[in-house]
Amino acid sequence: MSTNAFPYKRVFVAGHNGMVGAAVCRLLASSPNVETLTRSRNELDLTDEYAAAAFFREEKPDAVIFAAAKVGGIVANNSYPVEFLSDNAKMAIASIQAAYESKVKRFLFLGSTCIYPRMAPQPIQEDSLLTSALELTNEAYALAKIVGLKLCQYYRQQYGAMFHSAMPTNLYGPGDNYHPDHSHVLPALLRRFHEAKTSDLPSVTIWGTGTPRREFLHVDDLAKAIVHLMRIDNPPDWVNVGTSIDVSILELAQMVAKTVGYEGRILTDPTKPDGTPRKLTDTTLLKGTGWRPTIELEDGLKTTYGDFLARQSAGVLRAV
Ligand SMILES: NC(=O)c1ccc[n+]([C@@H]2O[C@H](COP(=O)([O-])OP(=O)(O)OC[C@H]3O[C@@H](n4cnc5c(N)ncnc54)[C@H](OP(=O)(O)O)[C@@H]3O)[C@@H](O)[C@H]2O)c1
Repeated sequence: MSTNAFPYKRVFVAGHNGMVGAAVCRLLASSPNVETLTRSRNELDLTDEYAAAAFFREEKPDAVIFAAAKVGGIVANNSYPVEFLSDNAKMAIASIQAAYESKVKRFLFLGSTCIYPRMAPQPIQEDSLLTSALELTNEAYALAKIVGLKLCQYYRQQYGAMFHSAMPTNLYGPGDNYHPDHSHVLPALLRRFHEAKTSDLPSVTIWGTGTPRREFLHVDDLAKAIVHLMRIDNPPDWVNVGTSIDVSILELAQMVAKTVGYEGRILTDPTKPDGTPRKLTDTTLLKGTGWRPTIELEDGLKTTYGDFLARQSAGVLRAV
């Protein structure tokens, strides 16, 4: 998709150093009319409402893509629910308010499909939001994200501001986090199979039975969906972004092994818990607006592994 006609000039990409923010910046870089504004957390802590307000007053962005968040895995979410709720809610409220006061024309807020109830019918539709209890392991994070998306909806409803949200499924791609304990399943497998290959290990054991099914979207496809949504006159208040295609964890492990060239055995460990059997998003609403993902998982894995190797040899692999 060309971004030449992107209708906003000064675009603040909050969280530009993160996996999503960086993908958005890469895409916007191909649009000659766009001037991307960025600030690292050290330069601008968005949980500080006074700093956020001053930034918006001074820089006057036309549009905001809000990809800043305090993100973490189950262990971090469980250990620090106070920070996951308060930091994420504070930065969302401060930025949305400041954007409205400085007359930002468009604000796209990023959440995730963890906002949906634990027992939401599969595939998960947008209208299952707030129909029953959340998954406890990421409740604090999900609550903060629900605050952000609802605040955007309320500003639009009450003041006519064009503020709306996107809820991506599991993402992968350049700049992912490869921490041995804290990373998501796809980068964790990529790293483990790479290390098994380089250490000549005869087998790799994956957690659980390998039967749970999960969906993965390349972050560059998400960036295109964001740009697409920001060009639409009347976007949904919040919309799922995914492929609506899932694979079992064992199938994923086999694809990763093939990608990195690992030829040993893949074993499962059924004594470990599996988690939800299936988590899939319904993307009918987004597809109805004309967007389609373009990167097949097999191709996305190859380029992501290339990025992993390049960063590893440059000593800048992210593992936090
Ligand atoms: N990764 C996924 O699989 C996934 C899936 C679904 C949805 N999402 C959503 O996509 C969004 C971005 O995720 P991501 O994976 O790109 O996360 P990420 O790589 O951890 O990036 C988050 C960014 O937020 C910035 N940030 C954190 N706290 C901040 C603060 N107090 N003030 C200013 N900036 C702050 C960080 O800035 P510094 O680098 O300067 O510290 C970082 O660049 C999140 O809303 C997340 O829920 C991600």
